[in-house]
Amino acid sequence: MKISASFLSSENIPRDLKRLNETDVDYIHLDIMDGKFVPNKTMPFSEMKNIYKFTDKRLDVHLMVDDPKKYIPLYAELNTEYITFHVEVMEQIEENLELIKSYGIKCGLAIKPNTPVKSLVPYLPLLDMILVMSVEPGKGGQTFISSSKEKIDEVRDLVNSYQSHAIISVDGGITNETKDECSKCDMLVSGSYIINGESFQERIDSLR
Ligand code: DX5
Ligand code: ZN
Repeated sequence: MKISASFLSSENIPRDLKRLNETDVDYIHLDIMDGKFVPNKTMPFSEMKNIYKFTDKRLDVHLMVDDPKKYIPLYAELNTEYITFHVEVMEQIEENLELIKSYGIKCGLAIKPNTPVKSLVPYLPLLDMILVMSVEPGKGGQTFISSSKEKIDEVRDLVNSYQSHAIISVDGGITNETKDECSKCDMLVSGSYIINGESFQERIDSLR
């Protein structure tokens, strides 16, 4: 199982990024919020771009924003492997997926807990990742929504039946106790469970 670590709940981002850099975590998950798609706002790109000073891990960027095309060219400049935005933005989805690909970066669509899985179907041939939200997006430290297991299983069936190459990642409330609900996914995003651990590596090991 691949693991992507979110530092959204960190109280000391430089320290925690350096500690994560010493582990074998696969990606750093960058949560970007615009105060519109979700109520909270994260730091501006002018600050976020300094992340390279603290980590050389590849980045898995999760855009919780209304207008992805404003952010894609910025985050494409970093050490980015994936850029994901939400299928709920409704507009210009194909254009934005193509824009991500134009930078040689893998593209993904995220889906909120109450959005039907079938909304992903038109975009499946383009997708490298589907990010299944197991909490309402917007903040760290929330409880895993138990119906997410069925959602993940449904997304897996969809990926298989359309012979899509997209990996399935799950984000929100992931701990050693909830990971078993996500056995059909390829990647787990975990924030507070890892960050609140004495040893980041032990927490990561317990999720694999
Ligand atoms: C939620 C974010 C998540 C979150 C994960 O809106 O997209 O990436 O930070 O944090 P935990 O693991 O604490 O739920
Ligand atoms: Zn996220």
